[in-house]
Amino acid sequence: DTETDHYYVSNDDVHRRWKPRARFSHKGTYGHALLVAGSYGKTGAAILAARALLRAGVGLLTIHTPVRGYAILQQAVPEAMVSIDPFEEYASTLPSSDGYSVIGVGPGLGQADATVKMMRKILETYRKPMVIDADALNILAAHRELLLRVPAGSILTPHPKEFERLAGKTANEFERLEKQKELARQLKSVVVVKGAYTSITSPGGVVYFNTTGNPGMATGGTGDVLTGILTGLLAQSYTSLDAAILGVYLHGLAGDLATHDLGEDSLVASDLVTYLPAAFLKVS
Ligand code: APR
Ligand code: MG
Repeated sequence: DTETDHYYVSNDDVHRRWKPRARFSHKGTYGHALLVAGSYGKTGAAILAARALLRAGVGLLTIHTPVRGYAILQQAVPEAMVSIDPFEEYASTLPSSDGYSVIGVGPGLGQADATVKMMRKILETYRKPMVIDADALNILAAHRELLLRVPAGSILTPHPKEFERLAGKTANEFERLEKQKELARQLKSVVVVKGAYTSITSPGGVVYFNTTGNPGMATGGTGDVLTGILTGLLAQSYTSLDAAILGVYLHGLAGDLATHDLGEDSLVASDLVTYLPAAFLKVS
């Protein structure tokens, strides 16, 4: 039906989009992601996103983070390289964005003036797709001229409150969905509004409702895990729409598998990283 403009994502849809790794591949095949995340007191967000990024199959990962996060990240995520910001407590200066397949930015970032300046610089120089979340979205909402510099093909992952800051208040969910479609069209990017039945809108106006996930995931840090998964997929050869559909589904499925063993009450964000491999096995 060519008239259909919304879909509910099934396991089959995801299986069709998932790409097996090639026998003669190497880490260069799977991209080099740059994760810009963490600030003093929020290094945990960077750890969660980084661990999820690696479990999503990225070739190489560099995390840019302030001085205070350096030792913690090297210890918590030995697979990742760390690019150390000159500032102690929050990120201010990215040495270079050259050579990275994708940038994921936002988890635990904070909104210090120097961090806003860094975001401005990134958006002025980087033209490949980005995954933009959390405080990076709040910075875009507060400095609207930056919003129009988001590279085409990016993925934005606001929760409802962050979306409201970006697009304004809406009377109901139908109105919100229209605004979500409009933002995706305007930025030529994929917009993911998170919650139960997360909605994904393409630049062309098609809406995909996710069907995995559960209320056990309503706990701090689960959004940071999603940012990691999406950044990891986008670093590989997935289109931004496929990365969003696949990543949001896998994130929810990891939540469902974790809940099956642990229950909704006890689920924590790290469990999503632990169960991501099992989720991949289910869609492969
Ligand atoms: N059913 C299914 N999935 C859910 C449910 C639910 N009832 N509740 C939450 N989730 C999922 C969402 O779909 C989303 O993927 O959990 C994730 C929550 O993400 P965020 O709202 O971004 O929360 P998180 O990032 O973990 O919060 C930590 O970061 O973005 C900031 O403002 C945010 O201060 C907060 C911090
Ligand atoms: Mg969040």
